[in-house]
Order: sequence, then C-alpha cells, then structure tokens
Amino acid sequence: MRKWLLAAAAIAVFAAPGTVLAQNPIIIKFSHVVANDTPKGKGALKFKELAEKYTNGKVKVEVYPNSSLFKDKEEIEALQLGSVQMLAPSTAKFAPLGAKEFEALDLPWLFKDDATYDKAMKGPVGKWLFQKLESKGISGLAYWDNGFHMVSANRPLINPADFQGIKMRISGSKIADRYFRDVGAIPQIMAFSEVYQALQTGVVDGCENTPSNYLTQKFHEVQKHITVSYHAHLQYAVIVNSKFWNGLPPEIRKELDKAMAEATDYTNSIAQKENADALEAIKASGKTTLHYLTPEQKLAWQKAMQPTYTWAKGRVGQEVLDLLAKELDIKMN
Ligand code: LMR
Repeated sequence: MRKWLLAAAAIAVFAAPGTVLAQNPIIIKFSHVVANDTPKGKGALKFKELAEKYTNGKVKVEVYPNSSLFKDKEEIEALQLGSVQMLAPSTAKFAPLGAKEFEALDLPWLFKDDATYDKAMKGPVGKWLFQKLESKGISGLAYWDNGFHMVSANRPLINPADFQGIKMRISGSKIADRYFRDVGAIPQIMAFSEVYQALQTGVVDGCENTPSNYLTQKFHEVQKHITVSYHAHLQYAVIVNSKFWNGLPPEIRKELDKAMAEATDYTNSIAQKENADALEAIKASGKTTLHYLTPEQKLAWQKAMQPTYTWAKGRVGQEVLDLLAKELDIKMN
C-alpha cells in the first residue's frame, strides 16, 4: 500500500505539468476577463471549436469568461503555476511579469488605425516582444485586436483641462498612468471585474475602454459622458504556459497551432465591426451622451499627452520604441 502511494506521488510529481500524454482528453483551461460577446470572448470560443474539431476531441478547451476563474493579476500568476494553460490578457497587464516593453503599445495615438496596428504586430516587433516572455515560462502565440479606447466620466471630457482632478481607472499600464497624469487626472489601477461597481459608487470617476467592453460590462449605464476619442489601442497577447505547451505531443501541437492561427484571423477580422456595432448599441441605449473630438480638440489632447513619449524611453527602453518607429514609419523622439 505504502509503495503504491509513493509510486502515485512520484507520477504526480514527474507528470506535472509538462507531461500531458496520460490525460485523456487533454484539458486546456482558457481564462479571460471579458464577456463572451466581445472580440476576445468570441475568439476564445472559436479556438475551442477548432481545437476540439482538429484534434478529434483529444483536446478539450474549457473557456472561463468574465473573470469567472481568475481576475487580472491572478490569472497571470495562475498561468505561471500551471493552474490554467491559456490566457489572452491585454498587453497593458504584463508589467508585473517584468515585461514592461509591451507597454509601448499603449502610447497615445501610436497606431493610425486597426490595419496599421495589425501590420505592425505581424512584423518583427511582435516577435521581439514575445521573446521577452520566454524567461518567465510563458510563450506568446498570437496577438488579438480589440480596437481603440474611448474615455468617460460623469462630465464631458472635451478639452485636456476637463480631466483635472478626476480619478480614472486604468488596467495596469504605466504609459496610460502617464498620459492621464499629463492631462491632470489621477489614474488608479483596478481589476476589470471591479470597474462597474467602482464607477457606480464613485470609487473612481471615469475610465477608458473599447466600445465592446463598455457595452458588455454596462459601463455606459454608469457614465453620463463618453468621448469617442480612440486615443489608445487595446490589444491582447494569447499566451500559454510554456512547459505545458512544449510538452504536448507534436501531432496535437500541430493541430492546435492551426486552430490558433485560424481563431486569430477570425478574431482580428471581427474586432472592428464588433466595436462599431457596440458603439451603435451604446448610442441607441440613450443611457449616455457620446462626444466626438474636433481636429483641433484632438490636437490639443495629443499635445498635452506628448510628454508621455519622452517619459516612455525610461520605462520601456529605446529598443522597442525604435522597432515601432521603424515598423510604423514614424519619428519617435
Ligand atoms: C481592461 O482591464 O480594461 C481590459 O484589459 C479588459 C480586456 O481584457 O479587454
């Protein structure tokens, strides 16, 4: 009996978490913080559908949306510990991992449009950034798009001075912290699952996010004014626990890579329309007032937030800024 127990313990130790051969089916827990009815939510379900189909059921993907398994920071820790196998956090949340370079993607008005963003991430900078995760036991598989941020509060945010003294929820990026400070706001990091209540009770005054997140989390119902500023981009990195992923049988990995490539194309192809539709639904709800910046107002925001670019060098380093400048064909200080 004792011998048997020792043998079982040894198997448990040596089998976790790299060896997945014995598991039947192989389970991939995919945790994320947004609703199913968003680009990321739909992307995760598409990956599940394709992964299970291509592996003939040898792999089962369990998708946990809406922070139902873990909140923002906890899910990254859980991935490193192997309690979940796959995530798609916004790249703004990678600093606790020591991968601050990802925050360069949060620079205000960095990407002209979704196509420019998409092209940039398919270039060398996307791969370079993923290399930053390797020493953390994490592998990057793909970048998923969720369009551009709007900004909101219970007062109209039209001119930079309108931000003076208001508490803004941010998701984690020090770059966002900086550009909100540039306009006089007081940024505060908070988990996504806590934002609605914080807005409702006045723990924070405002926030930034994309239309699909506003709509599905009902932020627009507790914010009187939204500015469709599209001042920064929201992107996700689909990441896996490297030990788990590298321990998969090669023939399974091949099918999962195919499923991920297709799920990525699908997610990125719907992101723009999903957000445009969400914005229409927010408008139609009549629960908030939407504001659009004139070219002069936009210029005033850009000027006010410009110091973030100079500051960013010390935070994310020159290398990633140079890579982005080259990719986007822009001058960055
Ligand atoms: C946020 O925390 O605002 C976003 O990262 C949520 C998400 O994943 O879209």
